[in-house]
Amino acid sequence: MNIAIVGTGYVGLVSGTCFAEMGVDVTCVDVNEDKIRQLQAGQIPIYEPGLEDMVLRNQREGRLHFTCDLSTCIRQVDIVFSAVGTPPDEDGSADLQYVLAVARQFGQLIQKYT
Ligand SMILES: NC(=O)c1ccc[n+]([C@@H]2O[C@H](COP(=O)([O-])OP(=O)(O)OC[C@H]3O[C@@H](n4cnc5c(N)ncnc54)[C@H](O)[C@@H]3O)[C@@H](O)[C@H]2O)c1
Repeated sequence: MNIAIVGTGYVGLVSGTCFAEMGVDVTCVDVNEDKIRQLQAGQIPIYEPGLEDMVLRNQREGRLHFTCDLSTCIRQVDIVFSAVGTPPDEDGSADLQYVLAVARQFGQLIQKYT
């Protein structure tokens, strides 16, 4: 199975790596070009015990990929997870602008049942 995870933060990177560890082909997508460049070079931007070894191993074995461009993988994936941030809005509610931006982008790119 091929999946994409949009948003490669604490949730996206950890869950994407764990899916890859289970044998799933995972593409982690993020708008932060520096972060994606770092990850492609094997540098892990957050600390979680054991995460670095798992990222490097799955990357080396070709199950874990990093990109800034959802369109490069959308045709191959069966499932897209959104793991972008939902920071507190001015009134304390969740600011959904990043979630909605991903949904819009996904809606424009989708060409098959996903
Ligand atoms: N971190 C936690 O412990 C935790 C626990 C439970 C729930 N959550 C929820 O999970 C979600 C993600 O949290 P997080 O801590 O991983 O956030 P995070 O800020 O660490 O990561 C979010 C990532 O999304 C990226 N992003 C933003 N817009 C994007 C877009 N249009 N396309 C691609 N990437 C985009 C950002 O660059 C960032 O790298 C939030 O809704 C949060 O509330 C987090």
